[in-house]
Amino acid sequence: MDLEALKREAAHRAVDRVESGMRVGLGTGSTARYAILEIARRVGEGRLRAVSFVATSLESERLAQENGLVVDPLDPRPLDVAIDGADEISPQLDLVKGLGGALLREKLVEVQARRFVVIADHTKQVARLGERAPLPVEIVRFGAQSTLERLAAFGEPALRLRGNEPFVTDNGNFIADLRIEPTAAPADLEVRLKALTGVVETGLFLGMATEAIIALPGGVKELV
Ligand code: 5RP
Repeated sequence: MDLEALKREAAHRAVDRVESGMRVGLGTGSTARYAILEIARRVGEGRLRAVSFVATSLESERLAQENGLVVDPLDPRPLDVAIDGADEISPQLDLVKGLGGALLREKLVEVQARRFVVIADHTKQVARLGERAPLPVEIVRFGAQSTLERLAAFGEPALRLRGNEPFVTDNGNFIADLRIEPTAAPADLEVRLKALTGVVETGLFLGMATEAIIALPGGVKELV
């Protein structure tokens, strides 16, 4: 089974958590894309009614709208469920997110979700965060080089580029991709990174996911 089929399977399983009348957070990335398309299909068929949506990126907002979903701005009401992918998933369901560049809006939306369902293929599972992917850190543009130097105390930071230009997030910021030593205790790192001048948000999503749906060639694994 190819990875795309696995991502789709995990996504469709997560969409089974969505019921009529719910407020739903829509994730970002190639796995979350399958969830958005499946939700839109079920809405189109009338199997889901009166569902409202908040998107974690302009890209997901566009995809949802192109497929007939109405996307609301984020307001303080809780979301019933959010469905999103991840770049790394630890055994405790701590996550690294943000390789797609949407980490700030993802965190803003998912922190308000009563249920945050992570969907992924099995390649995203790690024993310790930092094993597989760099840690994306959203930083302000002003003085970005200075912030990168401060981040060097935590690992090897690299300014994310798109072509020859810095990658710019939906919020007008830059991203530093920080190579860190794999860690089983990311909470301290999160606190220290958040305290760093110039850092807007980190891609560490700790204690936020309520469940993970992980598709592997032999079937689907659900972790809570
Ligand atoms: C975007 C994200 C994505 O959820 C994460 O990068 C996983 O993406 P994909 O499903 O394409 O592997 O955090 O900011």
